[in-house]
Amino acid sequence: MSAWLEGRVLENRAWTETLFSLRVEAPRLQFEAGQFVRVALDIGGERIARPFSFVNPPADPVLEFYGVIVPGGPLSPALARLAAGDALYIADNPSGFLVLGEVPPAEDLWLVATGTGIAPFLSILRTEAPWQRYRRVILVHGVRHARELVYADMIDEVGKAHRNRFRSVRFTSREQTSHALEGRIPAAIADGRLEAAAVPILPERSQFMLCGNPDMLKDVSAALAARGLRKNRRRTPGQITVESFW
Ligand SMILES: Cc1cc2nc3c(=O)[nH]c(=O)nc-3n(C[C@H](O)[C@H](O)[C@H](O)COP(=O)(O)OP(=O)(O)OC[C@H]3O[C@@H](n4cnc5c(N)ncnc54)[C@H](O)[C@@H]3O)c2cc1C
Ligand SMILES: NC(=O)c1ccc[n+]([C@@H]2O[C@H](COP(=O)([O-])OP(=O)(O)OC[C@H]3O[C@@H](n4cnc5c(N)ncnc54)[C@H](OP(=O)(O)O)[C@@H]3O)[C@@H](O)[C@H]2O)c1
Repeated sequence: MSAWLEGRVLENRAWTETLFSLRVEAPRLQFEAGQFVRVALDIGGERIARPFSFVNPPADPVLEFYGVIVPGGPLSPALARLAAGDALYIADNPSGFLVLGEVPPAEDLWLVATGTGIAPFLSILRTEAPWQRYRRVILVHGVRHARELVYADMIDEVGKAHRNRFRSVRFTSREQTSHALEGRIPAAIADGRLEAAAVPILPERSQFMLCGNPDMLKDVSAALAARGLRKNRRRTPGQITVESFW
């Protein structure tokens, strides 16, 4: 059984008309980078809860969540309307398996996200574990439009802290821009553009964590399977670990 903790919004940052980040003050929670927690509001006399991944690393006491307004969604439009000082509820039992403890060692760690699926990777990247366990870390983020390539400053900071060991590769699918590859991630795996922008993908050397749109998880997994990579399971370790946002 979980209990609800009361949190208070410190800041609601609107990145675009549909993308927002909430920074929240709440009682301290124990979690691992990559995990999520249920966030809730009372709407129409009912407590509406949805899982949200932590953007903050566990050592940071201010909780941060990155969200998109799903038109007509029960919770996300109401979360996006919150302002500093407003209350919200956070469950006291973070959970989830998109954590480095579930990922076998390798040379290269690939963190592949679409949309808000970048959230858990921003937490993982700001802990010590990836840099202790992997030689290189490659962050891959796919969005529709360039303005949705959020958290650029934070990603630049990671790059500065781990100069030769970090790559960031961005994709925009519905707009051309000079600072991102065009199209979808699975196509760029199949035609070699992703490797050309980063490092080679090899089963003996690569571990992939995927997060976001379930169709992307399916299509990236298929593109990687064609290269000899397999789902990572506890009994049969492989190279692909996934978390679907819906
Ligand atoms: C483990 C886990 C972690 C999650 N972490 C996050 C997070 O960090 N940030 C976040 O924004 N959402 C996250 N989600 C999704 C989140 O829980 C909600 O579904 C989302 O906020 C929409 O809520 P809603 O009540 O408005 O609509 P819902 O009824 O929950 O969703 C309606 C539909 O919206 C679409 N949808 C839902 N979430 C997204 C999304 N993130 N991006 C694009 N389309 C979506 C799907 O088609 C879904 O069927 C996570 C989900 C899971 C299972
Ligand atoms: N982003 C916006 O401008 C916008 C505006 C208003 C409302 N919304 C709503 O917000 C919600 C989330 O939108 P979102 O853009 O954050 O998430 P999204 O629809 O999951 O798209 C994010 C990225 O994932 C890509 N993608 C989708 N399917 C894929 C697959 N099978 N393989 C690889 N990549 C794939 C998309 O490419 P494609 O572009 O090729 O699909 C896009 O680049 C939706 O409900 C949407 O209706 C979004």
